[in-house]
Amino acid sequence: MSESITIKSPHEIEIMRQAAKIAAGARSMGRQAVRDGMTTRQIDRAVHEFIVKSGAVPSCLGYEGFPAATCVSVNDEVIHGIPGRRTVHNGDIVSIDLCATYKGFVGDCAGTYPVGEVSEEARKLMEVTRQAFFEGIKFAKVGYRVLDIGEAVQDYVESHGFSVVRDFVGHGIGRGMHEAPEVPNYRPARSAGRVNPRLVKGMTICVEPMVCAGDWAVRILRDGWTVVTADHSLAAHYENTILITDGEPEILTMADDI
Ligand code: MF3
Ligand code: CO
Repeated sequence: MSESITIKSPHEIEIMRQAAKIAAGARSMGRQAVRDGMTTRQIDRAVHEFIVKSGAVPSCLGYEGFPAATCVSVNDEVIHGIPGRRTVHNGDIVSIDLCATYKGFVGDCAGTYPVGEVSEEARKLMEVTRQAFFEGIKFAKVGYRVLDIGEAVQDYVESHGFSVVRDFVGHGIGRGMHEAPEVPNYRPARSAGRVNPRLVKGMTICVEPMVCAGDWAVRILRDGWTVVTADHSLAAHYENTILITDGEPEILTMADDI
Protein backbone atom coordinates (compact mmCIF):
# COMPACT_ATOMS: atom_id res chain seq x y z
CA MET A 1 0.00 0.00 0.00
CA SER A 2 1.59 3.27 -1.09
CA GLU A 3 1.66 6.06 1.46
CA SER A 4 -0.40 8.81 -0.08
CA ILE A 5 -3.42 9.01 -2.33
CA THR A 6 -2.58 9.55 -5.99
CA ILE A 7 -4.72 11.92 -8.05
CA LYS A 8 -4.72 10.87 -11.69
CA SER A 9 -4.18 13.30 -14.54
CA PRO A 10 -6.59 13.26 -17.51
CA HIS A 11 -4.02 11.25 -19.47
CA GLU A 12 -3.61 8.72 -16.67
CA ILE A 13 -7.39 8.46 -16.35
CA GLU A 14 -7.60 7.61 -20.03
CA ILE A 15 -5.19 4.71 -19.51
CA MET A 16 -7.05 3.63 -16.37
CA ARG A 17 -10.23 3.46 -18.49
CA GLN A 18 -8.48 1.15 -20.92
CA ALA A 19 -7.06 -1.11 -18.20
CA ALA A 20 -10.41 -1.26 -16.46
CA LYS A 21 -12.22 -2.08 -19.68
CA ILE A 22 -9.96 -5.08 -20.16
CA ALA A 23 -10.57 -6.18 -16.57
CA ALA A 24 -14.32 -5.89 -17.10
CA GLY A 25 -14.11 -7.94 -20.29
CA ALA A 26 -12.12 -10.58 -18.44
CA ARG A 27 -14.76 -10.76 -15.73
CA SER A 28 -17.39 -11.33 -18.43
CA MET A 29 -15.32 -14.19 -19.85
CA GLY A 30 -15.00 -15.69 -16.40
CA ARG A 31 -18.69 -15.33 -15.80
CA GLN A 32 -19.46 -17.21 -19.01
CA ALA A 33 -17.12 -19.99 -17.90
CA VAL A 34 -19.02 -20.47 -14.63
CA ARG A 35 -20.95 -23.57 -15.75
CA ASP A 36 -21.74 -26.99 -14.29
CA GLY A 37 -18.71 -29.27 -14.52
CA MET A 38 -16.10 -26.59 -15.18
CA THR A 39 -13.00 -26.63 -13.02
CA THR A 40 -11.95 -23.46 -11.26
CA ARG A 41 -8.74 -23.71 -13.30
CA GLN A 42 -10.74 -23.61 -16.55
CA ILE A 43 -12.52 -20.49 -15.31
CA ASP A 44 -9.13 -18.95 -14.56
CA ARG A 45 -7.87 -19.90 -18.01
CA ALA A 46 -10.74 -18.09 -19.72
CA VAL A 47 -9.95 -14.94 -17.75
CA HIS A 48 -6.20 -15.24 -18.20
CA GLU A 49 -6.42 -15.72 -21.98
CA PHE A 50 -8.68 -12.72 -22.39
CA ILE A 51 -6.32 -10.46 -20.45
CA VAL A 52 -3.28 -11.58 -22.43
CA LYS A 53 -5.09 -11.33 -25.80
CA SER A 54 -6.05 -7.79 -24.86
CA GLY A 55 -2.38 -6.86 -24.52
CA ALA A 56 -2.53 -6.59 -20.75
CA VAL A 57 -0.82 -8.43 -17.91
CA PRO A 58 -2.74 -10.56 -15.38
CA SER A 59 -1.54 -8.67 -12.32
CA CYS A 60 -2.73 -11.15 -9.68
CA LEU A 61 -0.43 -13.83 -11.12
CA GLY A 62 2.66 -13.73 -8.94
CA TYR A 63 1.30 -10.95 -6.72
CA GLU A 64 2.76 -11.75 -3.30
CA GLY A 65 3.12 -15.26 -4.72
CA PHE A 66 -0.52 -15.79 -5.74
CA PRO A 67 -0.32 -18.59 -8.35
CA ALA A 68 -3.02 -17.56 -10.89
CA ALA A 69 -4.57 -14.70 -12.83
CA THR A 70 -7.94 -15.09 -11.13
CA CYS A 71 -9.15 -15.60 -7.59
CA VAL A 72 -11.98 -18.16 -7.86
CA SER A 73 -13.90 -18.59 -4.61
CA VAL A 74 -16.78 -21.07 -4.29
CA ASN A 75 -19.72 -20.96 -1.80
CA ASP A 76 -18.28 -20.34 1.70
CA GLU A 77 -15.01 -19.09 0.17
CA VAL A 78 -15.10 -15.30 0.35
CA ILE A 79 -12.03 -14.20 -1.63
CA HIS A 80 -8.58 -15.32 -2.80
CA GLY A 81 -9.59 -18.88 -3.79
CA ILE A 82 -6.81 -20.56 -5.76
CA PRO A 83 -7.96 -22.06 -9.08
CA GLY A 84 -7.36 -25.78 -9.37
CA ARG A 85 -8.98 -29.13 -10.11
CA ARG A 86 -12.17 -28.47 -8.18
CA THR A 87 -15.28 -28.60 -10.37
CA VAL A 88 -18.26 -26.33 -9.80
CA HIS A 89 -21.78 -27.70 -9.84
CA ASN A 90 -25.39 -26.65 -10.14
CA GLY A 91 -26.35 -24.76 -7.00
CA ASP A 92 -22.86 -23.37 -6.33
CA ILE A 93 -22.04 -19.68 -6.32
CA VAL A 94 -18.66 -18.70 -7.71
CA SER A 95 -16.79 -15.45 -7.07
CA ILE A 96 -14.29 -14.27 -9.63
CA ASP A 97 -11.79 -11.50 -8.86
CA LEU A 98 -9.07 -10.32 -11.24
CA CYS A 99 -6.76 -7.47 -12.12
CA ALA A 100 -5.34 -6.40 -15.47
CA THR A 101 -2.37 -4.09 -15.88
CA TYR A 102 -2.28 -2.11 -19.13
CA LYS A 103 0.30 0.54 -19.97
CA GLY A 104 1.33 0.62 -16.32
CA PHE A 105 -2.12 1.03 -14.77
CA VAL A 106 -4.31 -1.54 -13.04
CA GLY A 107 -8.03 -2.30 -13.41
CA ASP A 108 -9.62 -4.51 -10.73
CA CYS A 109 -13.08 -6.05 -10.56
CA ALA A 110 -14.98 -8.98 -9.10
CA GLY A 111 -18.41 -10.58 -9.16
CA THR A 112 -20.25 -13.62 -7.85
CA TYR A 113 -22.21 -15.80 -10.26
CA PRO A 114 -24.54 -18.80 -9.96
CA VAL A 115 -24.03 -22.24 -11.45
CA GLY A 116 -27.45 -23.25 -12.78
CA GLU A 117 -30.25 -22.97 -10.24
CA VAL A 118 -29.16 -21.77 -6.81
CA SER A 119 -31.01 -21.43 -3.51
CA GLU A 120 -33.18 -18.44 -2.74
CA GLU A 121 -30.68 -17.44 -0.05
CA ALA A 122 -27.77 -17.56 -2.50
CA ARG A 123 -29.65 -15.49 -5.06
CA LYS A 124 -30.56 -12.89 -2.48
CA LEU A 125 -26.98 -12.80 -1.17
CA MET A 126 -25.56 -12.12 -4.65
CA GLU A 127 -28.15 -9.43 -5.35
CA VAL A 128 -27.65 -7.68 -1.99
CA THR A 129 -23.86 -7.74 -2.44
CA ARG A 130 -24.09 -6.18 -5.88
CA GLN A 131 -26.62 -3.59 -4.78
CA ALA A 132 -24.47 -2.78 -1.73
CA PHE A 133 -21.81 -1.57 -4.14
CA PHE A 134 -24.31 0.80 -5.78
CA GLU A 135 -25.55 1.99 -2.38
CA GLY A 136 -21.95 2.67 -1.35
CA ILE A 137 -21.02 4.64 -4.44
CA LYS A 138 -23.92 7.04 -3.91
CA PHE A 139 -21.37 8.60 -1.52
CA ALA A 140 -18.38 8.29 -3.86
CA LYS A 141 -18.51 11.99 -4.65
CA VAL A 142 -16.72 15.18 -3.83
CA GLY A 143 -18.15 16.43 -0.53
CA TYR A 144 -18.06 13.02 1.15
CA ARG A 145 -15.30 11.02 2.80
CA VAL A 146 -14.08 7.50 2.21
CA LEU A 147 -15.81 6.03 5.27
CA ASP A 148 -19.20 7.34 4.10
CA ILE A 149 -19.05 4.67 1.38
CA GLY A 150 -18.55 1.83 3.84
CA GLU A 151 -21.28 3.06 6.16
CA ALA A 152 -23.76 2.92 3.33
CA VAL A 153 -22.58 -0.56 2.31
CA GLN A 154 -22.86 -1.86 5.87
CA ASP A 155 -26.30 -0.37 6.53
CA TYR A 156 -27.70 -1.79 3.31
CA VAL A 157 -26.23 -5.27 3.86
CA GLU A 158 -27.30 -5.51 7.49
CA SER A 159 -30.82 -4.28 6.68
CA HIS A 160 -31.11 -7.45 4.58
CA GLY A 161 -29.91 -9.72 7.39
CA PHE A 162 -26.40 -10.32 6.04
CA SER A 163 -22.99 -9.20 7.35
CA VAL A 164 -19.93 -7.46 5.91
CA VAL A 165 -16.38 -8.78 6.19
CA ARG A 166 -14.11 -6.62 8.35
CA ASP A 167 -10.73 -8.28 7.77
CA PHE A 168 -10.42 -7.20 4.12
CA VAL A 169 -11.19 -3.84 2.58
CA GLY A 170 -11.33 -1.99 -0.73
CA HIS A 171 -8.47 0.25 -1.77
CA GLY A 172 -7.11 2.97 -3.98
CA ILE A 173 -5.75 1.82 -7.33
CA GLY A 174 -3.54 3.18 -10.09
CA ARG A 175 -0.02 2.16 -10.98
CA GLY A 176 -0.31 -0.04 -7.91
CA MET A 177 -3.00 -2.67 -7.42
CA HIS A 178 -3.38 -1.52 -3.85
CA GLU A 179 -2.87 2.16 -3.15
CA ALA A 180 -4.09 4.42 -0.36
CA PRO A 181 -6.72 4.92 0.90
CA GLU A 182 -8.24 1.81 2.42
CA VAL A 183 -11.95 1.62 1.61
CA PRO A 184 -13.71 -0.42 4.33
CA ASN A 185 -17.21 -1.82 3.87
CA TYR A 186 -18.19 -0.94 7.41
CA ARG A 187 -18.14 1.83 9.94
CA PRO A 188 -14.94 1.38 11.96
CA ALA A 189 -15.11 1.97 15.70
CA ARG A 190 -14.03 5.50 16.47
CA SER A 191 -11.24 4.15 18.64
CA ALA A 192 -9.82 2.38 15.59
CA GLY A 193 -8.58 5.84 14.57
CA ARG A 194 -8.88 5.17 10.86
CA VAL A 195 -7.92 7.92 8.49
CA ASN A 196 -10.96 9.23 6.69
CA PRO A 197 -9.82 11.25 3.69
CA ARG A 198 -12.05 13.50 1.65
CA LEU A 199 -12.93 12.23 -1.80
CA VAL A 200 -11.26 14.31 -4.48
CA LYS A 201 -11.78 14.50 -8.24
CA GLY A 202 -9.24 12.27 -10.00
CA MET A 203 -9.03 9.63 -7.28
CA THR A 204 -9.50 6.06 -8.47
CA ILE A 205 -10.66 3.51 -5.91
CA CYS A 206 -12.02 -0.02 -5.71
CA VAL A 207 -15.27 -0.44 -3.82
CA GLU A 208 -15.71 -4.12 -3.06
CA PRO A 209 -18.36 -5.38 -0.66
CA MET A 210 -17.61 -8.86 0.72
CA VAL A 211 -20.81 -10.17 2.25
CA CYS A 212 -21.59 -13.24 4.36
CA ALA A 213 -24.97 -14.89 4.74
CA GLY A 214 -24.07 -15.64 8.37
CA ASP A 215 -21.43 -14.16 10.64
CA TRP A 216 -18.65 -11.97 9.24
CA ALA A 217 -15.79 -13.84 10.97
CA VAL A 218 -13.43 -15.40 8.43
CA ARG A 219 -10.39 -17.64 8.49
CA ILE A 220 -7.65 -18.46 6.01
CA LEU A 221 -7.19 -22.04 4.77
CA ARG A 222 -3.87 -23.83 5.05
CA ASP A 223 -3.08 -22.95 1.43
CA GLY A 224 -2.27 -19.52 2.89
CA TRP A 225 -4.73 -17.72 0.60
CA THR A 226 -8.31 -18.93 0.55
CA VAL A 227 -10.49 -16.86 2.89
CA VAL A 228 -13.58 -18.75 4.10
CA THR A 229 -16.41 -17.82 6.42
CA ALA A 230 -15.72 -19.27 9.89
CA ASP A 231 -19.31 -20.55 10.11
CA HIS A 232 -19.21 -21.88 6.51
CA SER A 233 -22.11 -19.69 5.51
CA LEU A 234 -22.23 -18.55 1.87
CA ALA A 235 -20.30 -15.44 0.85
CA ALA A 236 -20.38 -13.12 -2.15
CA HIS A 237 -18.09 -10.40 -3.51
CA TYR A 238 -18.69 -7.58 -5.95
CA GLU A 239 -16.13 -5.01 -7.01
CA ASN A 240 -15.55 -2.25 -9.52
CA THR A 241 -12.81 0.28 -10.08
CA ILE A 242 -14.36 3.75 -9.99
CA LEU A 243 -13.25 7.31 -10.71
CA ILE A 244 -14.23 10.24 -8.51
CA THR A 245 -15.44 13.09 -10.72
CA ASP A 246 -17.17 16.46 -10.35
CA GLY A 247 -20.49 14.64 -10.36
CA GLU A 248 -21.48 10.98 -10.29
CA PRO A 249 -18.64 8.47 -9.99
CA GLU A 250 -17.58 6.82 -13.23
CA ILE A 251 -17.57 3.03 -13.02
CA LEU A 252 -14.45 2.23 -15.01
CA THR A 253 -14.96 -1.55 -14.99
CA MET A 254 -18.46 -1.18 -16.42
CA ALA A 255 -19.72 -3.80 -18.83
CA ASP A 256 -23.14 -4.75 -20.22
CA ASP A 257 -23.48 -7.65 -17.83
CA ILE A 258 -22.26 -6.20 -14.55
N1 MF3 B 1 -8.19 -8.32 -6.90
C1 MF3 B 1 -7.95 -8.40 -5.49
C2 MF3 B 1 -8.37 -7.14 -4.81
O1 MF3 B 1 -9.48 -6.79 -4.93
C3 MF3 B 1 -6.56 -8.75 -5.20
C4 MF3 B 1 -6.34 -10.17 -5.30
S1 MF3 B 1 -5.01 -10.62 -4.33
C5 MF3 B 1 -4.05 -11.47 -5.40
O2 MF3 B 1 -7.65 -6.47 -4.14
F1 MF3 B 1 -3.02 -11.83 -4.77
F2 MF3 B 1 -4.71 -12.47 -5.88
F3 MF3 B 1 -3.68 -10.68 -6.37
CO1 CO C 1 -9.63 -4.98 -5.27
